[in-house]
Amino acid sequence: MKESTDISTPNPGNKYTEQHKRRLSWMPWLFYRLKAKHLKWAGLWQQQIQDALCDVETVTLGEHCFISPDAAIFAEPGRDITFGDQCFVAAHSFLHGPIEMGDEIAINHSCSIDGGKAGIKIGSRTRIANQCKLYAFDHGMSPEQPIYQQANSSKGIVIGEDVWIGAGAGVRDGVTIGNHAVIGMNSMVTRDVPEFAIVAGNPARVIGDRRDKPRGYIEDLTQLTPSS
Ligand SMILES: CC(C)(COP(=O)(O)OP(=O)(O)OC[C@H]1O[C@@H](n2cnc3c(N)ncnc32)[C@H](O)[C@@H]1OP(=O)(O)O)[C@@H](O)C(=O)NCCC(=O)NCCS
Repeated sequence: MKESTDISTPNPGNKYTEQHKRRLSWMPWLFYRLKAKHLKWAGLWQQQIQDALCDVETVTLGEHCFISPDAAIFAEPGRDITFGDQCFVAAHSFLHGPIEMGDEIAINHSCSIDGGKAGIKIGSRTRIANQCKLYAFDHGMSPEQPIYQQANSSKGIVIGEDVWIGAGAGVRDGVTIGNHAVIGMNSMVTRDVPEFAIVAGNPARVIGDRRDKPRGYIEDLTQLTPSS
């Protein structure tokens, strides 16, 4: 018998449902575009994933978040992770607290984000592309001892609101990225980034300012849905 292509009801084992879950896991912005009939099963599926996560880790989630079942999220007591509303984490991302997030934050697939001791703060509407690396600690590097035996230092990372961090970018400990900044693909951010600055390269340098960019064209604000 041919398998049903109707995935509007939860039907574990149906290859189309399973593939749809996989698609959402890797491209979670699609979750926010689901038609009501699909949101019914996807919402229940998400609720189970989120309840199970909050049961075993000190994670707090806002309304309408999406957490890929293939993400690795660890938040021991004292290393809490808090998500505001409408945040998503895609497949193969690794998060270790402390991390504090506002609303509508995108963490795309295969990112590594570790809050060290001092933690990472991420402002609302910030979008982090795939394979970004944010590490809020450094190892001691004295030559007298192996690196792994030395204490870590941790100053913390602060990322403002409405920041776009391009794919493969890295942010080192101690950095503050101002509101509305853009970090180019594969850049390594080693110094603070001013508000609205566009930075790129390794080490990242200012290459522009968002305020000089033409106004974006949005056809219909009611059609605006979160993207990556
Ligand atoms: C930074 C970015 C947004 C372009 O910004 P822009 O203001 O349009 O920049 P321009 O294309 O005018 O480039 C300005 C200069 O910076 C350089 N540059 C741009 N992006 C760069 C990058 N990621 N790394 C190194 N240099 C870069 C350009 O080569 C150019 O150099 P030149 O003046 O010597 O020719 C874009 O290059 C980028 O990295 N986008 C991220 C894409 C991404 O990660 N998508 C994932 C999905 S969310």
